Amino acid sequence: MAQERVFGFGLIGAGAISTMHATVIECLPDARLVGVTALPYEAALEFAQARGARAYRTVDELLTDPEIDVVAIGTPSGLHPDQAVVCARAGKHVLCEKPLAITLEGADRAIHAAEEAGVKLAVVSQRRFDPPCVAVHRAIEEGVFGRIVLVNGIVRYFREPSYYTNSNWRGTWALDGGGALINQGIHMVDMVRWFGGDISTVSGFARTLSHSIEVEDTASATLEFASGALGVIQSTTAAAPGLYLTVEVLGDRGSAVIQDSEVVYWNTLDGGGPPELEGPKTGSGTRDPMAFSHTGHLSQFRDLLDAIIEDRPPRVDGWEGRKTLEVVLAVYESSRTGAPVRLPLS
Ligand SMILES: NC(=O)c1ccc[n+]([C@@H]2O[C@H](COP(=O)([O-])OP(=O)(O)OC[C@H]3O[C@@H](n4cnc5c(N)ncnc54)[C@H](O)[C@@H]3O)[C@@H](O)[C@H]2O)c1
Repeated sequence: MAQERVFGFGLIGAGAISTMHATVIECLPDARLVGVTALPYEAALEFAQARGARAYRTVDELLTDPEIDVVAIGTPSGLHPDQAVVCARAGKHVLCEKPLAITLEGADRAIHAAEEAGVKLAVVSQRRFDPPCVAVHRAIEEGVFGRIVLVNGIVRYFREPSYYTNSNWRGTWALDGGGALINQGIHMVDMVRWFGGDISTVSGFARTLSHSIEVEDTASATLEFASGALGVIQSTTAAAPGLYLTVEVLGDRGSAVIQDSEVVYWNTLDGGGPPELEGPKTGSGTRDPMAFSHTGHLSQFRDLLDAIIEDRPPRVDGWEGRKTLEVVLAVYESSRTGAPVRLPLS
């Protein structure tokens, strides 16, 4: 019998999300953590020693390790494109945390580098693997809800001031690329786009209402989809004490509402209820940023390895990550100019 291929992983970053990446790698039978790099080096060393892995002083050093097949990037968002480009050029497959980049130019560089090198590029959007979201998406595709008229995604989170003040990158334009919308709200932007299809126009506001940060802590936008459906995106990190997130799909034959990781409403004119949902759910970090399960990431890492084995695109590839980023940037532009913004951005 053929030996199962085992994928060697390298991590860039040793913070909150890289800790989850390491947990996920441990759960995958055909993956192993080879090594990690972070700043300062001592942080990488401690992280690596706790997991029997190697620590590297630089990204370049990590990339010269022939035992690494896939690199998971868990660094401040503004660093993602440069790191994705060097990983791809070194022939490594890339799993990049959201957002893929904070500019479209950055996203394009990452996508083209991966295409030129012939490696896979996946962008994290773990809710696409959450059973309630998968069930609603499937029902939309099957026409269960009829013509979709409204798709709304709302993030009502709370972050203590220390969430920003204890970090040298969160809440900065240079490294976070924005605030509540690009960091927390992007999950819902991706979800409404997945459910409603391409977005053609956005009109939005991004404001700093509670936190002492240079970017927005609250954003609200109305959307028009290419299908003609309408929708709303809202995201805040200033809703005390940290409520739930919702995504709603309303159609002329039925509607569904997901709250965190539960379907709280599903009804149709012909009386059909929600399907039996299988598998663990991701949950939501309403107050504690990392209070969600690793299961969504686990499914997404699995999908990337399967994409490599089957030589197909990952379910959320660079182009998908770019489209979601584009909607976020359009809201910021609309907020700046006071005018609706049409997509695609030129
Ligand atoms: N998918 C999700 O739900 C989710 C959740 C949390 C964070 N994230 C994303 O993960 C990324 C990191 O967030 P975090 O909360 O883990 O941040 P963090 O501050 O906890 O960790 C960042 C890590 O990056 C490392 N780093 C910084 N500059 C570096 C460099 N030049 N080279 C190598 N390493 C460097 C730091 O040493 C640190 O270990 C962000 O893009 C964020 O949007 C995603």
